[in-house]
Formats: sequence, C-alpha cells, structure tokens
Amino acid sequence: MDNILVVDDEQEVGNFLSFLLEEKGYRVSVAESGKQTLDLLNDHKFGLAMLDVRLPDANGLDLLKEIKQKLPLCKVIIMTGYSTVKTAVEAIKLGANDYIEKPFEDIDQLEVQIDALFNDKDYTENTIESLAHGVGFIIGQQAKMKHLVTLAYKIASKNVNVLIEGETGTGKEVLARFIHQASARRDQPFIGINCGALSHALLESELFGHEKGAFTGAVNQRSGIFEIASQGTLLLDEIAEMTPAVQVKLLRVLETREFMRVGGEKPLRTNTRILAASHANLGETVRQQQFREDLFYRLDVVKLQIPSLRERNKDIPLFVSYFLEKNSSSLTFSDEAMNLLKNYSWPGNVRELANTVTQLTTLMDGEKTTITPADLPEKIILGNEIQTREKNSSQPVQTTDDDTTDLKSFLNAWENHMIHSLEDLRNFDFNHIENQIKELEHRVETTFVKQALIEADGNRKEAAHLLNISQRKFRYLLNEKNKED
Ligand SMILES: Nc1ncnc2c1ncn2[C@@H]1O[C@H](COP(=O)(O)OP(=O)(O)OP(=O)(O)O)[C@@H](O)[C@H]1O
Ligand SMILES: [Mg+2]
Repeated sequence: MDNILVVDDEQEVGNFLSFLLEEKGYRVSVAESGKQTLDLLNDHKFGLAMLDVRLPDANGLDLLKEIKQKLPLCKVIIMTGYSTVKTAVEAIKLGANDYIEKPFEDIDQLEVQIDALFNDKDYTENTIESLAHGVGFIIGQQAKMKHLVTLAYKIASKNVNVLIEGETGTGKEVLARFIHQASARRDQPFIGINCGALSHALLESELFGHEKGAFTGAVNQRSGIFEIASQGTLLLDEIAEMTPAVQVKLLRVLETREFMRVGGEKPLRTNTRILAASHANLGETVRQQQFREDLFYRLDVVKLQIPSLRERNKDIPLFVSYFLEKNSSSLTFSDEAMNLLKNYSWPGNVRELANTVTQLTTLMDGEKTTITPADLPEKIILGNEIQTREKNSSQPVQTTDDDTTDLKSFLNAWENHMIHSLEDLRNFDFNHIENQIKELEHRVETTFVKQALIEADGNRKEAAHLLNISQRKFRYLLNEKNKED
C-alpha cells in the first residue's frame, strides 16, 4: 500500500512532503490537526504516517497509539524540532519506526528512509545483530535488552547526546561502541575517557588540548579529544566524577560547539558526538547538587539504562557459552553449576561473569570437561547460600555433622565475599554488609555452642562452663537466637 499520511499543523510541511512524495509515486493525505487525523484514519488505510509531535489539539504520542492500534502494520516516522527530541525518543519506545528532525536538512536521506520503510527493507533486527556481533556485544533474549538496543540503534544515526546508565560491568562501554559503530561516524575515532581516573588538569588538557607553555610541563602545543575526534564519538565515562570547572567547559561545548585549548585564546569548533556513562544515577547526583542541572539536561537527551546481570539472569547460559568460545574452551557446565551461576547476584555484572569463566577455563581446561558446583568460586556458593537463607529466614540454622569444617569453609567464603565487596564498594550497600556480619556472628556462635555441647557430652551446664558464659546465655545462644533468626 503506497498511501502516506502526513500530519503537521504547518501547512508548508504538508505541501512540501506532498510535492516530494507524490513526485515519487506515492499517494499523500495531509491532516493539520488531531481531529482531521482521526477522521482520515476512519476511512483510509495508510502504509506510512509522518507525524508531527506537537499539534494544537492533540498530542502526537496519543495519535501514534491510535494509529498503531487502528493500523498495526502502518509504519510511523515522527517529525520533530530539536526541542522535542526527547518526545521523539519516547515515541520510538512506543513503537514509532524512526524520527526525523525539522527543518529537513537532507532530503535524499529522507527519501531513502521512506523507501526503506515502504519496501520493508527494514532489516533492523538483522542489522542490529550483525553490528552487535561486530563489537562483541551480546544482546540476549530478554525483551528489556532488545528494546534498549533497538532504541540505541535508532538514535545512533542522529547526533543526539546519549546518557548510558548501569551498574559497573553491565556493558556501558560496549553499548557506546555499538552506537558509534551504528552511526555514520563509524570510520572516525571512538575515544573513551574516564572522568574519575584523571586529575582535573589532566582531564582538561585531554579534552581540550593545551597551548605550549600553558602550564608547567606543557612543552608543546597539544590537540585535545574535541579536536582529534571532531568527527568521531567521545565517551565520557564516569561523568558524575567530572569536576565543576570541566562541567562548565563541557556545557559550553554542548551549547556552542566551541572550546579553547588550555592557555589558548582562539575558539575552536568541534562536531564530536558525546556519549556519557555513569554507574551512579546522574539525576540523583544533580539533586545532591554535585552535578550541574543544565549540563545534565544536555546530556540526558536519550537515556539508556542497562539492566544489571541479575535482572538478565536467564541470559547467563548464553553469556557463558560466549565467553567459553572466546577463550577457545570446550568446557561445559553441569545444570547444577549453571543454576548456581544464575542465582548468584553478580555485583560486578557481565565483567565479573567473564572473569569467572576465564578463571575456570585457566584452571580447569585439560583437567575436566564439565564444571560442577565444587569447581565454582566460593563467593558464588556463599552468595547462593545467603540468598536461600534470606528466603527461609524464619528457619533455624542447620549445622552439619562436621561443624568445624563447615565453619572453616564458611569463614573462607565469607572473607572472600567481604574483600570482594570492599573492592567493589559501589555495588554493595552497607545494610547488606551488616547482614553478613550478623550472619558471621551467628555462625561462629552456633558452632562454638554446638562444639561445647559435644565436648560436654550433651551437658548444658558443663558446656556453658566450658565457654565461660552463664547457662542462661548458653540457652539463649543455642535455642532462642536460632529461633529468633
Ligand atoms: N552485552 C555484553 N556482551 C559481551 N560482553 C559484555 C557485555 N556487557 C559487558 N561485557 C563485557 O564485560 C566487561 C565490562 O564491560 P564494560 O566495560 O562495557 O562495562 P561498564 O558498564 O563500562 O563498566 P564500568 O562501570 O566498570 O566502567 C567487558 O569485558 C565487556 O566486554
Ligand atoms: Mg566503563
């Protein structure tokens, strides 16, 4: 069906598109209001709708829903001004196929977009797959991730800023590379810079460059990233850590596309596309007044929130085979071992999983063919144990016959887990740590009490005496504390 519906309250837009598209053999209907749109939808069918998001009597997003409901196969292109890009992104989330910015700058591109949608050359899914494959990005089977990547793909070709949020190791950088690769900038440099890892002065000079003699040590003039990657993509990683002074300079670049080298006086122009990443919620950082609000709104035109690996645990087997293959390993995992992997909380997300698989292949390749629970790092076993305990927290602690051995392995795993948490501080809240300390206290006490009972041949009085505590306290530790937990 070659009918196109154009919805725009500006007459010139309707005229222009009718002229352009009828020339190409399409039949075009124009609506200038929400009401006219609904009327047309009642007695016509369309293969494509081009929809302005701001209409005097209707909200473009509501019309989009209406169109999708009445004509599920109708493709939709949102037409937007710069100030409404956020709405366009919203529309894509609601099922719009694409958006274009008004005023139309590249008519050829517009024609290509329209023809592609009509000829169903919308190989989006395949294209996304192969691009992702190219940058080593596993999307997985979960809808949340698929939507996220489709949105990333659709906005990749636009020059909008993108804010990527997600816990550490969720793949923020891989996603940024995917966006770069999916954009027309793919042959230009992609540069990532960690705003938290560099001193203020170094970050400034990395980004903006410096003139000779700008500061001690600036022996030569040096170009910064905004010059080197003027046609490329810059990933500002850990953006929340950026100092206020650099924030001001960055804001200026975003507003005017201009900057000066440190110590320089001549404004230079840049066309670098900016992607920002943060493991912290940047909006929250703004509320705590640690990040400029105006800069936040500039960066947050499109927000891509990558879910934690916990939320994608059904994809763990897929990740595991990917990492095994990457390590050229022919190991397999027993179902039980795989279940433990699925139930572990993965505070370090995909990075932690990748490292775990690499460690296992280094240790086990040639030794074994199948990984069983016994081969897994203790933190994974302990993590599972704690989870089960939290779920069954009304039940008393079960101790095994061999309490001492049990305690040893518990202590070992506990220590690993604690050190791991400390190294990965941002991903554990203190409540979790406190719970684990309680857990430790409880485990140690119970083991001592039980051991004393064994040594005293079951005589409580003697056992209490052995531990140098009152019988009352002994009973409390043995019974009530268990029950209370
Ligand atoms: N979807 C994925 N597919 C394949 N590998 C992934 C994926 N996500 C993450 N990884 C791998 O996990 C590791 C961490 O990814 P990345 O550096 O992108 O995370 P990050 O979110 O930027 O972490 P941080 O907050 O610590 O900077 C990398 O080795 C990356 O290759
Ligand atoms: Mg990163």
